[in-house]
Amino acid sequence: MARSKKKAVHEESAGLHRVVTTKTVLTMKKNGEKIAMLTGYDYLTARLLDQVGIDIVLVGDSVGNVVQGHETTLPVTVEDMIYHAKAVKKAVKNALIVVDMPFMSYQNSVDEAIRNCGRLMKEVGVGAVKLEGGEYIADIVRHLVRIGIPVMGHLGLTPQAINKFGTYEVRAQDKKEAAALVSDAMALEEAGVFAIVLEKIPAQLAKRVSNSLTIPTIGIGAGPNCDGQVLVVSDMLGLTEEFRPRFVRRYSELADVMRGAFRSYIDDVKGGRFPAKGESY
Ligand code: KIV
Repeated sequence: MARSKKKAVHEESAGLHRVVTTKTVLTMKKNGEKIAMLTGYDYLTARLLDQVGIDIVLVGDSVGNVVQGHETTLPVTVEDMIYHAKAVKKAVKNALIVVDMPFMSYQNSVDEAIRNCGRLMKEVGVGAVKLEGGEYIADIVRHLVRIGIPVMGHLGLTPQAINKFGTYEVRAQDKKEAAALVSDAMALEEAGVFAIVLEKIPAQLAKRVSNSLTIPTIGIGAGPNCDGQVLVVSDMLGLTEEFRPRFVRRYSELADVMRGAFRSYIDDVKGGRFPAKGESY
């Protein structure tokens, strides 16, 4: 795309949609306005998300699964997150950019958490970081928030703990785990997070947590009563064909569209129909 056209697209989207900050999402909860969040890992997708008015782009460590092809999110590094966040940052003018801090980049000590989260804030200029975990990371959250690094929490099915859980099944189905999740949510709010992702927990529990907090909850597989929703962009576009949990609504079948385009291209090249005269110099 020519440079001037690129600028025009940005200007158009900047005029249409508000700039979203951590304060905006708190106000949205107060006003009963639902928060729409999707993951984004690259410049072009992030630009489309921003153009249509997504509230939050999450540079998720799900990049490990859907971009890098790993079985889990555990191998993802801080360098990976910086690389993807930089591409997203270049495209986004209005949405709040939140970046997942990868496994073992924040759990070890307050110092390490500050150093790694600080890199995302300073080297990329994102709006906030997301950390998985409950009460046991509250102290780390408190330090980050105090020095000006906004934090989004993540409870329920926390994929970085998959080796502890042993399964991607629904979490907190029994009373004990449900009670622990409620007190984790309270501890995170008290420590200063501005929002909490609730992943794959019963809808009734998500409703209870959402009603107990003044900060917004953003659900994924957590029912309709969260203050916002998030999906992995590759899932909702139908690119992760074999991944079909009930909480993923497919808004497109992009894998079919892409295969169709690739097949047509191959046929055209093999049949000598591409490039045509008008596509040559
Ligand atoms: O990494 C990710 O994409 C996430 C979402 C599933 C919330 O954490």
